[in-house]
Order: sequence, then structure tokens, then C-alpha cells
Amino acid sequence: MSALSDVRAVLFDAYGTLFRFDSIEEACATALGAAGGSGPTPTELATLWRSKQLEYSVHRSLMGNGHYVDFAAVTVEALDYSLARFGVDLPGAARSRLLRAWQTPRADSDTLHVLAALSPLPRAILSNGSPAMLQAAIAAAGLSHQLDAILSADEVRIYKPHPRVYALGTARFGCEPKEIAFVTGNGWDAAGAAAFGYRVCWVNRTGLPAERHGPPPAAIVESLAGIPAALGR
Ligand code: LAC
Repeated sequence: MSALSDVRAVLFDAYGTLFRFDSIEEACATALGAAGGSGPTPTELATLWRSKQLEYSVHRSLMGNGHYVDFAAVTVEALDYSLARFGVDLPGAARSRLLRAWQTPRADSDTLHVLAALSPLPRAILSNGSPAMLQAAIAAAGLSHQLDAILSADEVRIYKPHPRVYALGTARFGCEPKEIAFVTGNGWDAAGAAAFGYRVCWVNRTGLPAERHGPPPAAIVESLAGIPAALGR
């Protein structure tokens, strides 16, 4: 029997978990190709963009009342910083296309069958993404019919890893944290969700070391495809 087979609901992080970053990197490659010149590589731009996006979301949460803006706005700020840092001058249309990549990210190829395999457990997304970003991404990937809820940090106007965001899941399903499996590909999110008390299943695709600032995950898998077995399905 799996250590996680008794959970009553499953929550999934969105970006970096069900949705892959490689499509954001591809959008960066297209934009940089159009810009020409000797700028950053697509990987460099995508990596700085993502890291600034996370940094700004955490910093805005720490700044307190009145400093919240939604994740789409944080993503714009992070892109503009990254372009400025690399000295890339993108035409407006290319910049808009790049931002739209967050509304149509590629889902992991195992997403649909993993969600289906977990049924009839309730399955939901719990993400820092704004409702509009998430709804567009979920619709584009054809996942709506396999999800019971889309929970966005926007509802509480602060970002993961703040416990108020994780508490959206326990409130939605009327469960204790330990009755919920939280699946994420992001190490910092695994630490935050475990600190909240969720039973965390970390999708560690690239063999990263565990983060040092939170309790360890209950289970570690190498790909999304490993989730049903980790949950005893
Ligand atoms: C999410 C991002 C931040 O919450 O990974 O979906």
C-alpha cells in the first residue's frame, strides 16, 4: 500500500507541474529570433523571467497590504526587467506574443491520463496563476473536464508559499491538510505545501536536491506519470 493511498483529494500546482516550461522557452526563442542581434539565449531569458516572476511574487507578498498585483501583472514586470537586463528591445507585438505563452503553455503529455487515473478522487489546480491565465491554459490544453476546481492565489491576494493560499484547498474540499495530496514540480512549492501540512508528492524531473527550508515531501517521483502509483491507484 502506498503511503499516500488514503488521501481524499489531490491538488496540482500549474506552471512547472501540469504545464511545462519548455513552451515558454520556445516562445522566447521565437521572440529573440525576431529581435535579432547578439542577445541572451532563449534559455537565459526564460530562466531569468521565471526567477524574477517568483521573486516578485514573494517580495510583493512580503511588502504587505496594497502591494498585491495579480500573477499576470507580476509576469509582465518580470519580463520587462529581464528584457532590460539583457538589453533586448522587443517590438510590442512580439512582447505581447511572449506574454500570451503563459495562457497556452504545453501540458505535460501525461496530464490527461494521470488526472483520469485518479478519478473519482476530487482533483484541482492550486496555483499562483491568475484565474484568467489558468482558465485559458486549462481550456487550451483540454483539461477542464478532468478538474473539479481551479483555485487561484488571487482569491486571497497573496502568493504561495503563504499558508493562506494552501488553505484554499482544505476549505474547498472540507479536509484536513494531511488528507490532501499536493503534487508539484517546484521544490519551493513542495517545501511550502509540506510546511502547511499537505502530503506532498514532488515531481523531480531533473534530479534536483531537495530544498532545505521545509519538511521533506512524502513521495518523490521522476515524472508526472508516476503520480497514480504514488497514490496507490
Ligand atoms: C504556480 C506557479 C507559480 O503556482 O508554479 O502555478
